[in-house]
Amino acid sequence: MNIQQNISLKSFNTFGVDVSASRFVSIDNIFNLQKILSEEKDVFLISGGSNMLLTKNINKLVVHVNIKGISIDYENDDEVQVTVNAGENWHEFVMWCISQNYGGVENLSLIPGNVGTSPIQNIGAYGVEVKDVITKVEGININTTKRVEFTNDDCNFGYRNSIFKNELKGKIVITAVSFKLTKKNHYLNTNYGAIEEELTVRKISNPTIKDISNIVVNIRQSKLPNPKKIGNGGSFFKNPIIHSKQFKKLQEEYPNIPFYEISSSKKDDNSNYYKIPAGWLIETAGYKGKRFGDCGVHNKQALVLVNYNKASGADIYMLAKKIQQTILYIFKITLEIEVNIIE
Ligand code: EPU
Repeated sequence: MNIQQNISLKSFNTFGVDVSASRFVSIDNIFNLQKILSEEKDVFLISGGSNMLLTKNINKLVVHVNIKGISIDYENDDEVQVTVNAGENWHEFVMWCISQNYGGVENLSLIPGNVGTSPIQNIGAYGVEVKDVITKVEGININTTKRVEFTNDDCNFGYRNSIFKNELKGKIVITAVSFKLTKKNHYLNTNYGAIEEELTVRKISNPTIKDISNIVVNIRQSKLPNPKKIGNGGSFFKNPIIHSKQFKKLQEEYPNIPFYEISSSKKDDNSNYYKIPAGWLIETAGYKGKRFGDCGVHNKQALVLVNYNKASGADIYMLAKKIQQTILYIFKITLEIEVNIIE
């Protein structure tokens, strides 16, 4: 194993923040991962680096999880289970599924990052979350270096949330994820407004998974910045969920406020809740397209903070805090940060 000293992490995080790692090792198999973890526990894990904001140099061993490979566990006429190693690029995996006519992940096309981190924040887009297709997550327990496995239920998936962001944060290295996908009679999720509109425009009445994927790619390209060109970490905040009482008040003041109604999942709570697009709150507060030094708020989707070139993680974090304060002041809503801030 080649442990490098003092290397820049700029190309390992999609924000393109230039911090350094005092030591860095790229791992491409489980055996070496176990070996390194048996020698060192206080490591910093990095994979696709698409959902993190690095605000300082990392003075520990950075372990780049780069284990590749896809295998088919079983299949019948209707469905297939595939196991994908953590270091596979997410979008390339989706493209492979489309080429095999395996349905279930087409709405998740063009999401940056790697397969291994997809369960951590339960990536989601256009009406689908990765939890809908995950059957198993495999990993290594950092403390014991033993292999561990999680069923879908074990993962405690929620909106941009899972056990790996909570109880197991920093305790597990995810090495592979298994997905159950359809081989025919695909369940197509076309309910999301922009997908329906695009299908009508393209006069497609019987869409294939490839049609859906193409449309999702187009929508994403039209509003989300390509991290290879402008550094970003996707949605910086979660869409907040507020109680109906607060929502009704806001709606009186802002009759055009967009929302998704959701009912509480708690047994003793019959209230209705509303998910409000944070992008709308940030745009309404006047931040959309605004630039502050070398960072700013994307001009086509206000939920995305961008690094135009040389912004530091601390600059971007400061902007995020400023936005949080403004949103709290104007709307009395606390915006929760979705990306992982490394302080
Ligand atoms: N909106 C605005 N101004 C903006 C952005 C959005 O007013 O600048 C309002 C519009 O009303 C729009 C609505 O917000 O119709 C929803 O916007 P969009 O469809 O872009 O979705 P989102 O709620 O902002 C979420 C996910 C995205 C995912 C899209 C599509 C979160 C935190 N973000 O964004 O996920 O691609 O839905 O499903 O839930 C990510 O997590 O990194 C990510 C990009």
